[in-house]
Amino acid sequence: MSIIHVDRLKENMVLSEDVRDLNTRLLLSKGLKIKSKHIRTLKMWGVTEVNVASNKPDYEETTAKEIDAGLLERIEENTRELFHHVDLEHPAIKELFRLSVLSKSSSKIYKSDKKETVDPVDDSKEELMSDLRNNIAYQRIKLPEIPSTVYELNEMIANPSASADDIAQVVSKSPSLAAILLKIVNSPIYAFPTKIDTISRAVTLIGTQEISGLALGIHAISIFKDIPKDMIDMHLFLKHSLACAIISRVLCAYKNITQTEQMFVSGLLHDIGRLILYKYYPKQSRKILQRAASSKELLHEEEKKAIGCQHTDIGGDLIKKWKIPLSIENIVLYHHNPSDANNQTYATIVHLADIMAHSQEIGTSGERLVPNFDTKAFNSLGLSPSSFESVIRLATHQINAIESFFK
Ligand SMILES: [Fe+2]
Ligand SMILES: [Fe+2]
Repeated sequence: MSIIHVDRLKENMVLSEDVRDLNTRLLLSKGLKIKSKHIRTLKMWGVTEVNVASNKPDYEETTAKEIDAGLLERIEENTRELFHHVDLEHPAIKELFRLSVLSKSSSKIYKSDKKETVDPVDDSKEELMSDLRNNIAYQRIKLPEIPSTVYELNEMIANPSASADDIAQVVSKSPSLAAILLKIVNSPIYAFPTKIDTISRAVTLIGTQEISGLALGIHAISIFKDIPKDMIDMHLFLKHSLACAIISRVLCAYKNITQTEQMFVSGLLHDIGRLILYKYYPKQSRKILQRAASSKELLHEEEKKAIGCQHTDIGGDLIKKWKIPLSIENIVLYHHNPSDANNQTYATIVHLADIMAHSQEIGTSGERLVPNFDTKAFNSLGLSPSSFESVIRLATHQINAIESFFK
């Protein structure tokens, strides 16, 4: 038996439970073989999910004809490794596992068939770590000063009387930032029917805080673009950050949350603490990445073991130092344990977006595995796993549409 969204119902599936409307009136009975007219009835009565009889995960049915059993077994095995630190019995994780296997099975080339090589861990330079650990303990960690564009955008966000032209003036100081912003506002993320060709028009349509936040997030990440590729592929890092930003916005739409100005910038900056480590502490970062790869531990757990804090703490400190508004410091700080956040809903949405991006392997922040899942926070969010497939489909379409803007 499995719960599935009505959009995924197919003819000849069998209902394993009665389906009732909100007034408990019986609509369809248990044991009924679904026909297209039943799907129409369910949609008409606003039923979004039903229980159907199934003794096999449905990706096996979808993919069995197209790929051989051996490949499917390898995909499942590798996906189980990817999901090593989360509970596969939780309905949300079970659904993400299914979607992960499904997307790998339907892609023409299965990339994880390439064997990754892991360098042996060199533990001879422990003093490197204690150096960084001491710096952190005595608050001597080097955090960059606030860039002038970030400072000016902060002012815009905090000032309710800032005009569209004021913001356009700040953004236009960086022609590449202005060009990317215009491409994004004209992308499927906003889906405006006509072309927007000026920043001030974009501000009028989308709002001061959202445009300034978007500009701020993009600008802040671009400061780290010169991190060498053998440390982290910055294009993949940006893709992971964009995925988290976009999925967060889509999840808000599914939860009917209208105040979403901070979601894009929170998603973009959630792992910025890692960029500080990669840029200013490259030797230690390489070691931490290497240890996580060989131990199969989560990267943020290895960070804690090695330096006594995590990228979340460093990212939170940076956002505090840069005085970035929109209450994103708390979201960044608690994106791996949103139960402890002040605004649990927003932190849980970014947390879930991060888990989704990892489960679909969209970009990377250096973490190779699906990070720990805060079941308590997820359960109180009240979001059905049956919506995950359409959330991921919609978000992937938007991510693919904009990732090339950053090349
Ligand atoms: Fe993270
Ligand atoms: Fe992340």
